[in-house]
Amino acid sequence: MNSVQDFAQAKASGRRISMIAAYDAWSAAVIARSGVDAILVGDSAAMVLHGHPTTIAATVQMMAMHTAAVARVAGGKFVIADLPFLSHRKGITAAMRAVGALMTAGAHAVKLEGVDGHEDVIEHIVGSGVPVMGHLGLTPQSVHQLGGFRVQGKGADAAERLRCQARRLEELGCFAIVLECVPASLGACITSQLRIPTIGIGAGGGTDGQVLVLHDILGLNTGHTPRFVRRYVDGARVLAEALDRYDADVKEGRFPAREESYS
Ligand code: KIV
Repeated sequence: MNSVQDFAQAKASGRRISMIAAYDAWSAAVIARSGVDAILVGDSAAMVLHGHPTTIAATVQMMAMHTAAVARVAGGKFVIADLPFLSHRKGITAAMRAVGALMTAGAHAVKLEGVDGHEDVIEHIVGSGVPVMGHLGLTPQSVHQLGGFRVQGKGADAAERLRCQARRLEELGCFAIVLECVPASLGACITSQLRIPTIGIGAGGGTDGQVLVLHDILGLNTGHTPRFVRRYVDGARVLAEALDRYDADVKEGRFPAREESYS
């Protein structure tokens, strides 16, 4: 997948979209060799790579650096970069500066959280020729207002609010929407009401696509694992075993061998 038209085509034909959040060159190079459709340079980098408790610590500079690393080796995959905390809430000029930094770093599109109060910014970015992916439901940049990382859209009023926001993002020209941590029935309902694709994370199987963080898929996250994660390999254990073997080889004189040395 290498354009927003491919996202529209996927929705029209019912082909599901796979996306992975990744932040650096080695992982982008591995993803480039897979069938995965798109790479999200998520602001979750602030947590996963930099050890912060929330995504609030992500900056435009941090996101541009990770975007550039991914884009250099993404091998034709569609790259979407997150607009970090408040970068789209300080007026159009500041937002466009942030968009410029991410796009010149190599992104093909930007993602931003929410819609209320920055509709003009979304319209301006789209009108400037930059594809925008929306993000609704659990929007981690608002974690302190939401009272934690918890499921959103429970109850009739909250669900209706999310349905309205999703329709508004479509009207504003977004090419896709991430739905994070909403009941599966709501994920499916919003998906059925939109012409643009939804990409779910903890939003059930009724969305048009799925996104997970690479480190969760590979089992490299040693902290709390949310219910919606499917771990495809116990990476932390596999890597720790490899490191222990290396450690033992060094300490017991098995590494380096003659063929690993210069004559
Ligand atoms: O920052 C991120 O990785 C994200 C995804 C989890 C959707 O926004």
